[in-house]
Amino acid sequence: MSWSVGAGLEGRTVVVTGATGGIGQAVANAFATTGARVVATDLDQVRLDALVAELPGEGHLAMALDLKSFDDQQALIDRAQAEPGGLFVLAHTAALLRRRNSLDDVTEDDWDAQIDTNLKATFFLCRRAANAMKDNAGGRIILFTSQSWMTGGFGGAAVYAASKGGVVSMARGLARTYGPYGITINTVAPGQINTPMLLTDLDPAVYEKMRVETPLGYVGEPEDVAGTVVFLASAHARYITGATINVSGGFLMY
Ligand SMILES: NC(=O)c1ccc[n+]([C@@H]2O[C@H](COP(=O)([O-])OP(=O)(O)OC[C@H]3O[C@@H](n4cnc5c(N)ncnc54)[C@H](O)[C@@H]3O)[C@@H](O)[C@H]2O)c1
Repeated sequence: MSWSVGAGLEGRTVVVTGATGGIGQAVANAFATTGARVVATDLDQVRLDALVAELPGEGHLAMALDLKSFDDQQALIDRAQAEPGGLFVLAHTAALLRRRNSLDDVTEDDWDAQIDTNLKATFFLCRRAANAMKDNAGGRIILFTSQSWMTGGFGGAAVYAASKGGVVSMARGLARTYGPYGITINTVAPGQINTPMLLTDLDPAVYEKMRVETPLGYVGEPEDVAGTVVFLASAHARYITGATINVSGGFLMY
């Protein structure tokens, strides 16, 4: 193995979901910098086109779709499979958070929207991706949980936390199932990262408390997470599967 930042990723096809989100943009940029071809997906084609136009390197694609749709999921995997070498990495950052500071305010629609997006869509997307990767003799799946998988969530995020706990458990089962096919599946657990998801409807006092209680002394930036994703996709992480990587500036230690 040669040692480089994105070892094994040069010329590979990488799907990044949630690519116009806070963390997704940084992840797409990081993969493009390694020489990988990025298939960027999110809900809005105009924003995706703008993102892809700015990525370093060539051959990147922008595909707007809703991951809750199984037809859209299949179209995404088929498109990535059509690229040279087929799909090698799924970096799945897309998710939905609806904060409800009183649990009495949680509606059935809040429950369904978060569980359907964060857990149900993730399972079926992973299965599609893994079946494609089997045909390609291996691959890497990087899922996003959250520190809330362990804490239960701050600032009105109990339903979201339940979905993210499910992602950790599910990733372990997927890792066991698809390991024999050369496919690794790991989860990244960010702490507080400055993105629209964190900041929407968050009480500024809660934000400040989190900042003060973070040993590294600041709320993370998307770039603080992107390196971990590239590492997990690279050849350097080839013997890691079923792991949850804590990227929280020390806010939680495990
Ligand atoms: N920001 C944080 O502090 C933080 C902390 C812990 C975990 N996370 C996790 O990191 C990941 C990225 O979060 P972020 O902060 O960048 O969020 P974000 O809200 O900035 O981005 C999420 C993206 O997902 C897309 N998306 C949502 N539903 C979709 C659907 N049905 N189909 C297609 N795209 C859809 C959104 O359009 C958005 O662009 C998420 O999984 C999140 O749960 C974030």
